[in-house]
Amino acid sequence: MAVTPEAQRWEELFATRARADVGEGIAAILSLLGLPELISVAGGFPDPETFPRERAAALLAEFAATGETSAFQYAPTRGLPGPLDALARRLETTQGRLPHDGELLITSGAIEGLELVSRTFLDPGDLVVVEGPTYLGAIMAFRGYGADIVAVPMDADGLEVDELGRRLASRLRPKLVYAIPDHQNPAGVSMSTERRELLVELARRHGFLIVEDVAYRELAFDGDAPRSLWSLGPDVTVQLGTTSKTFFPGVRLGWAAGPAEISAQLVNAKQNTDQCASALGQRLFEEYARRGWIEEQLVRSRALYGRKCARMLAALERTMPPRVRWTTPRGGFFSWLTLRGGDTTELAKRAVEQGVGIVPGALFFPDGRGGDNVRLSFSMVDEEQVDQGIERLASLVGG
Ligand SMILES: Cc1ncc(COP(=O)(O)O)c(C=O)c1O
Repeated sequence: MAVTPEAQRWEELFATRARADVGEGIAAILSLLGLPELISVAGGFPDPETFPRERAAALLAEFAATGETSAFQYAPTRGLPGPLDALARRLETTQGRLPHDGELLITSGAIEGLELVSRTFLDPGDLVVVEGPTYLGAIMAFRGYGADIVAVPMDADGLEVDELGRRLASRLRPKLVYAIPDHQNPAGVSMSTERRELLVELARRHGFLIVEDVAYRELAFDGDAPRSLWSLGPDVTVQLGTTSKTFFPGVRLGWAAGPAEISAQLVNAKQNTDQCASALGQRLFEEYARRGWIEEQLVRSRALYGRKCARMLAALERTMPPRVRWTTPRGGFFSWLTLRGGDTTELAKRAVEQGVGIVPGALFFPDGRGGDNVRLSFSMVDEEQVDQGIERLASLVGG
């Protein structure tokens, strides 16, 4: 794309951190993925079928009728007391640990949690360990503060914690280790319980902070979840959560739970981002959770995503050549393809021409790897179009 004189003029003024981009090839693909005519297995959006339209409308009507003011007013930076209490109780029910006083805060989504953690911990040149591959939003957040990012490999049981241990023994000194232990984005795998325990032990031994992202934790197709890293090691973990995939992303809500001293610093940092998360969203979530509606929505969502995932995996099985491998998710939104040969950034371009949106794997590594991987998302694609989308992709991959 030609750079206009105006664009150049402003670019010269941009801060260094604003120039950390994703690379031209990938930016071009991302800009195409929003085309409405695509069969898209690209985005990580929840299926709009899960949105609680009527219940949200009923709650809004109730707030208006009862003369409630808190939903319409600014909120304290840490969060409104009622929503904080409802969230704390949910964490107790779903993770077996009630946050202590001062440990929990409400954020404007998990993305803001990543921003607050980065702001609080990272100076330029500090080291962050991530899973390879990992969530692009986290790479961008850490890079935005000038961190060096090292990706440690994953396998079917999640992050290879033994390998991390070896690197720590040979003097790797991260401040943060970022992990998405449940139904990982983009790999679609979960960390085994043994590895979770070992990771907590390593954090205690080597003095780093675990940043646990639980974006997909509640979306196991069978409803089961192993112990969270935060419940295993609340002294060495900050957990970042979101209601985007379980309630709806329009409210932009999430949480951070960690040691009280850290939580206080995150609250300080939040005073310089948005000062408080949406009070309206907080109150909607509080009422939704207290009435048990969130559990009802989760039952439906898990069944829907489980069905969509099964359909995508069956289509892959039927159509892909034998050299192609993919992960078998037990929850969440994603499966991760390994082509063993080929350039998937190029493949993604050709896929768009054939009407299919995919995300090339290079986007999910901080170091240029992932060139023969693809992330497939089954969360939002129309169920009736999954087969067609995967067939078209398979014909591009070839035999
Ligand atoms: C692993 C992971 N973390 C965080 C987020 C962002 O969550 P939120 O919508 O709460 O900002 C996503 C969304 O795609 C995600 O996949």
